[in-house]
Amino acid sequence: MLAGKRILLIITGGIAAYKSLELIRALKKRDASVRCILTKGGEQFVTPMSVAALTGEKVFQNVFSLTDESEMGHIELSRSADLVVVAPATANILAQMANGFASDLATTCLLATDKPVMVAPAMNVRMWEHLATQANVATLKSRGVSMVGPTEGAMACNEFGMGRLAEPTDILAAIENHFGNETPLAGKKIIVTSGPTHEPIDPVRYIANHSSGKQGHAIASALARLGAETILVSGPTNLPDPAGVEMRKITTAVEMLQACETSLPADGVICAAAVADWRVENQAGQKLKKEGSEDTLALSMVQNPDVLATISQMSVGRPSLVVGFAAETEKVIEHAVAKRQRKGCDWIVANDVSPETGTFGGDSNLVHMIDGDGTETWPRMSKDEVANKLSLQIAQFLGGKE
Ligand code: CTP
Repeated sequence: MLAGKRILLIITGGIAAYKSLELIRALKKRDASVRCILTKGGEQFVTPMSVAALTGEKVFQNVFSLTDESEMGHIELSRSADLVVVAPATANILAQMANGFASDLATTCLLATDKPVMVAPAMNVRMWEHLATQANVATLKSRGVSMVGPTEGAMACNEFGMGRLAEPTDILAAIENHFGNETPLAGKKIIVTSGPTHEPIDPVRYIANHSSGKQGHAIASALARLGAETILVSGPTNLPDPAGVEMRKITTAVEMLQACETSLPADGVICAAAVADWRVENQAGQKLKKEGSEDTLALSMVQNPDVLATISQMSVGRPSLVVGFAAETEKVIEHAVAKRQRKGCDWIVANDVSPETGTFGGDSNLVHMIDGDGTETWPRMSKDEVANKLSLQIAQFLGGKE
């Protein structure tokens, strides 16, 4: 359930901070990815080194770090998670959250995030029972922040009462429960194509295109997070395999079609790959040599199968939803509308891939969503956000559980 989920864990300064290390281990064991923000207080109880070693990720500590900001700004850090967890959450951070402070990296991210937030408070019993804390907790709850604990028991300060951090296993259960309610694609199977294809000329040369695979991989990842059984048929890319996704790595367009066909039946197929339209008719068995050949070389090319059109036009066992992408450099919507009709797919996600847009290889995308009812233009957003938005629409269409 947690495979591929992205957790932003904020560790604030409480003696119970050592338990957050156990939480990280448990999350990692379940294949979740965990990024941590360690506050100045948190640093007094656990070291950045321990957190980095357990998460396998850089630890974020300073809102004014030039390196951190240039690698990943605090806004992106706050939004590139599926869930933000504050554990342990001190009385101080609860007060800051309730009052909208943005005085350090943790509070800035908590104010900037558009993702669900869960807090696991930990503090002395009197601090917990103080009217100020209780009012802050009520405010946070009313804004949709979920709470795990605190629990009752003996405290590090030798007092007894409410205020102990919930056990890591209970925080983990709350996180699992949170995501358990967020898997509208559970029980659905979806195939995604991604990346370029390479069409060989001879054993050492090939024809390819500029696709990085970022958009297709992001879609597979987002679908898996929503609970779909996701198969990613990918051409050669430099990207890591997304968590929770079954990979089928191919090289050519012919292999891409075969991999898709053997992966069927499916509820949905999303063709995000930039498939080569032609392949070399007679691939040379040996490396073509310059010596003794003419100044020019003519390659005879034949058309490749069209994966999207083949699946869209299946007469038996057609998936309920087939989505194509249209990479265009001019008259984007007009060409894409015609492409949707020609190929017979249900939706087309059209984007402008002219070099000046930086779409190929870049991290953001401006897309137009075209279906039988018309066109909707989405604002420019990151490829991850395009993937999330598209996946939620797919979930709605396939009518999985809410
Ligand atoms: N596609 C495919 N198989 C192919 C060619 C394209 O599955 N052999 C899919 C792509 O994955 C994409 C859609 O078709 O979802 C449109 O791809 P695009 O390259 O924009 O269109 P083409 O069909 O190649 O048309 P053209 O190059 O003439 O614009």
